[in-house]
Amino acid sequence: MTYENLPSWPKELQTLVDSFLDMRCRYQAALREVRTKLEILDDEFQMRHSRNPIHHMESRIKTPQSIAQKLVRKGLPLLPSAAMENLHDIAGIRVVCAYLNDVYTISDLLSKQDDVQVLQIRDYIQHPKSNGYRSLHMIVQVPVFLSQGRLELPVEVQIRTIAMDFWASLEHQIRYKESVTVPESLNHQLYDAAQRIASLDADMQDIHDQMIRLVKESIPET
Ligand code: GTP
Ligand code: MG
Repeated sequence: MTYENLPSWPKELQTLVDSFLDMRCRYQAALREVRTKLEILDDEFQMRHSRNPIHHMESRIKTPQSIAQKLVRKGLPLLPSAAMENLHDIAGIRVVCAYLNDVYTISDLLSKQDDVQVLQIRDYIQHPKSNGYRSLHMIVQVPVFLSQGRLELPVEVQIRTIAMDFWASLEHQIRYKESVTVPESLNHQLYDAAQRIASLDADMQDIHDQMIRLVKESIPET
């Protein structure tokens, strides 16, 4: 059978693929906007305080497969328009900070910017998930300027410490990569590990605060 003899779906499929590519391009732009904002905040902090609050960042655009799975799970049509209207985590950036206070500093500085609209904030640090997961999640909407004009797009921002990231990355691997369901006893162990990590974060913050005080005291008053 030649391509010309195929039923009409290839053209529709092409249209669908094109609109997914278009959507990805828009979200890439939104992600870049947020990433740049965060890099600028990090640079300014470094200039003022001689250290970087952001240890590193990771970003991703949800894959078409993952978008499709989420649309099906939510009982929504498999269309880019449905994804754009209903999914707020197509573009995602993870901001890994040095210290606990840095998480809130970065979140506040980003929220204050007048072209950033905070659509949602979930504080899993103040209110950890039942498995021990900690992180500050925000959905922020930012403008992007394309040939068609200005678009407002949501980006999921997950802000956490290095220690929280260490736990979450391994917990995710354990939970999703292994073929066996995690037994209750190991869930308890994972929860205990998360508690110890939270306590380490508090210790590191305390050590850092004490050092800052010592440095301030050592500077002679003018
Ligand atoms: P999703 O449908 O997964 O997007 O969840 P949601 O929209 O209810 O948002 P939620 O804030 O619960 O989680 C969003 C993202 O946070 C997930 O996709 C993960 O990246 C991360 N996350 C949330 N809970 C956990 C957890 O228990 N463990 C790990 N490792 N990551 C988590
Ligand atoms: Mg989500």
